[in-house]
Amino acid sequence: MEFYAESRALARVRTDCAVVGVHEGGELGPAAANLDATLGGRVARIVRGGDFACRLGETLLLPDLGRSIGRVLLVGLGARKGWNRRSYRRALNAAAGALLKCGAKDALFLLGSEAVPEVDAYYRARFVAEAIGNATYRIPDLKTGKKPPAPKLARVGVATERAGAAHVSRGLEHGQAVAAGTAVTRDLGNLPANVCTPTYLGNYAKKLAREHRGLRVQVLGEPQIRRLGMGSFLSVTAGSEQPPRLIVIEYRGAGAGTAPVVLVGKGITFDTGGISIKPAAGMDEMKWDMGGAASVFGTLAALATLGAEVNAVGIVPACENMLSGRATKPGDVVKSMSGQTIEVLNTDAEGRLILCDAITYARRYKPAALVDIATLTGACVVALGPTCTGLWSNDDVLADALVAAGQRTGDVCWRMPLLEEYQEPLKSNFADFANVGGREGGACVAAGFLWKFTDGLRWAHLDIAGTAWLGGANKGSSGRPVPLLFDFLMRRA
Ligand code: BES
Ligand code: MN
Ligand code: ZN
Repeated sequence: MEFYAESRALARVRTDCAVVGVHEGGELGPAAANLDATLGGRVARIVRGGDFACRLGETLLLPDLGRSIGRVLLVGLGARKGWNRRSYRRALNAAAGALLKCGAKDALFLLGSEAVPEVDAYYRARFVAEAIGNATYRIPDLKTGKKPPAPKLARVGVATERAGAAHVSRGLEHGQAVAAGTAVTRDLGNLPANVCTPTYLGNYAKKLAREHRGLRVQVLGEPQIRRLGMGSFLSVTAGSEQPPRLIVIEYRGAGAGTAPVVLVGKGITFDTGGISIKPAAGMDEMKWDMGGAASVFGTLAALATLGAEVNAVGIVPACENMLSGRATKPGDVVKSMSGQTIEVLNTDAEGRLILCDAITYARRYKPAALVDIATLTGACVVALGPTCTGLWSNDDVLADALVAAGQRTGDVCWRMPLLEEYQEPLKSNFADFANVGGREGGACVAAGFLWKFTDGLRWAHLDIAGTAWLGGANKGSSGRPVPLLFDFLMRRA
């Protein structure tokens, strides 16, 4: 797909399909009025005649105009009052879907030049590329039979005044990088656990490094993990026939003197719960328990696609959480790489057990900041639902930067409390602490557990259990929080 900023006058442009937004009430905005003038009042007549109600996300295709503008896709923007970032993105998603369906080979988004409070030209353009990227994404399905035809859309322009063209171009370039990274994340999340094993993830990282200059990959196997003293990580893989992997991806886009941001991603390729086994219903969803790892891969792929001027390191502990005669049992005590001992009271609280050792490993990079990303707790899903990623941090500046990145991109996260009180339920008579407390405040207690491994680090924890995948008809990986992480990292460039 090719994206470009279009700053020529509409009369001088040829396009297969112009995409334009119209608010409820029928009064055309500047972009729609301009198009309407070019088409001899056709758009205004349709809206006035009541053929199109302009409800948010509604679309109407005017086919076969047989002019330099081949057809027009009208997109409802809803009420002008309350028009904002969120409604703009919803309109774009609807437009992208309809555009692919109509089979246009190229399109010009006049909608991208629409004024949206709080969204500048850069983000307006970036969201266009992200929306097209998400709409053209195809699940790597294992269905036999005829595949749906590849999308015909090949070129997408975003209309802009000449003065804003550079911002639009930059937004489009970044949006494409985010879309490419999001596709990596969605692919990995959507693959079943019998394909996407820890070994597969390690090989995938090596493949990324072959495709992108600037990425360096190291994949450690069980003997090396053992030598590092990662007894906590190893306790999770103990019941599995699949060998574990510690995957390290370094991206160097800035000078050697710049401390990297380290991203640590939970890479449980399947979570049965272990001996503390999960109920059967919905257990298939636990193939997404490597969503944190997938978002680390996707974010680094996005940075490398762009050649972003930042230093970042991805660290992914990857293994399965299975049951067998060798599996870890409730009550077992294990020693983490940090030296602290842990009583494993519940083998289903395994994410924190692999993350804590990966966090300790990350110290060798002397990170400017460390962000872990994990489908960590069902409690976070209950607390925040599918809307917000949970955020915990021991550093206000870092937390504010992540919250702001979430607001700018619409990939929102919400700060939650990090307090010693939430560590109290972890008290143990047999080890330094246990891996679980009671049911209450489960997401905060999990963050409190990780906190014990972050002394002296600027650290944030993102619990993406509710946001990494979509349910219902769109069941599958969402690609979150790649847009958030990418934005956060680009602000540091
Ligand atoms: N991977 C799960 C968390 C999860 C649950 C993610 C539902 C997405 C949807 C995690 O390993 C887990 O099992 N957590 C337990 C922790 C509990 C035993 C303290 C949970 O949330 O039930
Ligand atoms: Mn679990
Ligand atoms: Zn899990």
